Amino acid sequence: MDSVQIGLLGCGTVGAGVVDLLAKRSGRILELTGLRPQIKRILVRDLEKPRALSIDRALLTNCVDDILNDPEIAVIIETIGGTSPAHAFVMRALEAGKHVITANKDMIAQHGDEILAAAARTQTDVLFEAAVGGAIPLIRPLKECLTANVITDLQGILNGTTNYILSKMTATGAEFGDVLQEAQDLGYAESDPSSDVDGLDAARKLAILASIAFSTRVRLGDIDVRGIRSITAADVRYASEMGAVIKLLATGSNEAGHVHLRVGPSLVPKDHPLARVDDAFNALFVHGDAAGDLMFFGRGAGSLPTASAIVGDVIEVLRNMRLGVSGRLTPAPNSSKPVNEREPAPAAHFIRLEVGDKPGVFAQMAALFAQKSISMESVVQRRLNPLAAEIAIVTHDVSAGVLARAMKELQSLPDVVAVHNVLPVLKGDSTS
Ligand code: NAP
Ligand code: HSE
Repeated sequence: MDSVQIGLLGCGTVGAGVVDLLAKRSGRILELTGLRPQIKRILVRDLEKPRALSIDRALLTNCVDDILNDPEIAVIIETIGGTSPAHAFVMRALEAGKHVITANKDMIAQHGDEILAAAARTQTDVLFEAAVGGAIPLIRPLKECLTANVITDLQGILNGTTNYILSKMTATGAEFGDVLQEAQDLGYAESDPSSDVDGLDAARKLAILASIAFSTRVRLGDIDVRGIRSITAADVRYASEMGAVIKLLATGSNEAGHVHLRVGPSLVPKDHPLARVDDAFNALFVHGDAAGDLMFFGRGAGSLPTASAIVGDVIEVLRNMRLGVSGRLTPAPNSSKPVNEREPAPAAHFIRLEVGDKPGVFAQMAALFAQKSISMESVVQRRLNPLAAEIAIVTHDVSAGVLARAMKELQSLPDVVAVHNVLPVLKGDSTS
């Protein structure tokens, strides 16, 4: 029986889950692949740190050369995170002919092209199922099962921390800051939550998915990104009264070779399946021209859910090694489609504004909307205090340019105190 030596880089939440799951499934992996994976060394930063009993401390090292220079180690599992030093370690591993499995969306979103090109050159596997959506199979379905389709739409809840926060705000009526604090106390949100709450984590995941689904190179900087810090309990309450919930959506569309990518808070009608994805769960809606609508749902993070995807990748690498077909799925995308260079398709929008509570103010606003041909689908007005009122509107479809000009003019009306939030509304029909 052949064993395959593995070098594990990182032994935190995800790395420790990989150690446990590989040990638990070793018999099954042998059955499936004819090979037995064996962790030979584990790279950590701090050798003295307390670890779970399942971690054999004799395997720990804080010197990456012990792994990268070891010719017996054929497979690297990278669970360090971030781009440096992970990117350099992965490039060295590939140049040494080692296969790489990683959970690192930051690195793949930023350096995926270079890494995949190195894998193609060295005929090695680079697999990263865990980098997007944790346990949910997303990369392999897009890369393999759905390749007969032209994928036209992606709509996802790809960040568990923000979904937990928005779900809590919806369920309890609490403000963003209070729920963020609670999420940090419970360990859902990190002490520096910026990459989650400012939308960057979801944007990295969208960049990876869109590159594969739309067969193009997506640069992170091309994505229109907005986080959820500006969402208030009032937005959540009005959205609910208007039959919707607010979610941080990552959306991608591919129309006639033009790609549009956005991450930002959006209203999702309560009858849309994405509206029912709550707490820290993730989900992705995909529309393919032959397959129609598909939805993937599950745990986007956590030790064992993430290890589930990584160990699945280990099995794939071992199968490829056994059959002598390593590197079969790693060519870098060869096309480059324009991203966000055209206006997105017209969409309904939610607008919340504060106005002076005087006769004629609503009429002024309605006249401006009529002049711009913006049609209102629903309106709620509520008194804030003796001098001010709050108005929430959902429009019918309006183009981004017309809406931006209308909001600028609205803001300059003498009795408009502030336009607090303008959010797109996802169409009830997911194929739009
Ligand atoms: P983590 O708990 O912070 O663990 C990181 C590990 O890497 C630790 O063992 C740490 O060593 C080691 N490490 C960090 N910097 C190092 C360096 N310079 N040299 C050597 N070792 C170093 O992180 P995690 O939550 O497991 O996440 C790992 C990766 O998985 C990230 O890319 C993350 O985005 C991705 N991911 C995580 C989840 C999740 O649920 N956590 C889900 C999906 C994807 P010490 O133990 O000595 O500190
Ligand atoms: N911070 C990420 C999230 C972890 O909240 O979804 C998984 O990538």
